[in-house]
Amino acid sequence: MHQDVAKVLLDEPTIQAKVRELAARLSEDYQGKCPVLICILKGAFIFTADLMRHLTIPARVDFMAISSYGNRTRSSGVVQILKDLDRSIEGEHVVVVEDIIDSGLTLTYLQENLWSRRPASLRSCVLLDKPSRREVPFTPDYLGFQVPDEFVVGYGLDYAGLYRQLPYIGVLKPEVYQKHS
Ligand code: IMP
Ligand code: MG
Repeated sequence: MHQDVAKVLLDEPTIQAKVRELAARLSEDYQGKCPVLICILKGAFIFTADLMRHLTIPARVDFMAISSYGNRTRSSGVVQILKDLDRSIEGEHVVVVEDIIDSGLTLTYLQENLWSRRPASLRSCVLLDKPSRREVPFTPDYLGFQVPDEFVVGYGLDYAGLYRQLPYIGVLKPEVYQKHS
């Protein structure tokens, strides 16, 4: 275990088994179609890569980067697109792949933004859910795990840009936060 990690919430085999299960469900539900996975950078890049490798149907991938300002201190949740999709999604079957849903503001904004581009269908596939933190109602179509209201890192999720490469999802030691603040 990494020296900055206090405890592991989800270990590597548990995550990998769930990713395979989600990929199997997507492969079945999108049988005969070629969905576009929209990976929300940066947090979802590892989840998206693993998920895609287990799909048994053809699929495309595109990327979006967004930043939510004042998310921690305000509930307004202003979302800004830092990098937009390369291609139109009009008429496409779209699956938004996100690392974690917390307040729900990011996915609510994205859902609205992406529907305006006239996809044939739009669903969300989210690895982690912190339901206790929801500010706007949002239920992912495909969900990996529910987690308690703790700040988690690993498997793509970061603190101060770090810890994304951990193969498991864990909670940091309290002193790590002091080091970066
Ligand atoms: P929300 O649902 O709009 O509040 O925001 C979700 C986003 O907040 C995610 O895409 C993450 O970037 C970030 N986030 C929320 N909780 C955590 C966490 O526990 N660890 C790392 N990032 C988190
Ligand atoms: Mg994120």
